[in-house]
Amino acid sequence: MKIDDKIILITKVGDKIYGLDAVCTHARCILGHVDFNKKIVKCPCHNAVYDLETGSMIEAPSVAPNFPKEKGGLKTFNVRIEGGWIEVEI
Ligand code: FES
Repeated sequence: MKIDDKIILITKVGDKIYGLDAVCTHARCILGHVDFNKKIVKCPCHNAVYDLETGSMIEAPSVAPNFPKEKGGLKTFNVRIEGGWIEVEI
């Protein structure tokens, strides 16, 4: 979903809806491979892995194993469905 200049990944796992910045902090690829069981999203470019709940980087990019994971987290957004609409708090 694109809101203003932000591209936000919105996904639902069970009853919970997650929203996070969809642009990888490594080289700005668009995220998209969600693992619903592990509640993670993997970057398709170099396989960095992010936690859906916190946005933190769990695994560094495969091409940059020393990438500072603590600085590579993604912004998260509160998301809810209200009256059939998806509402994102930005
Ligand atoms: S652009 Fe996402 S891991 Fe490199």
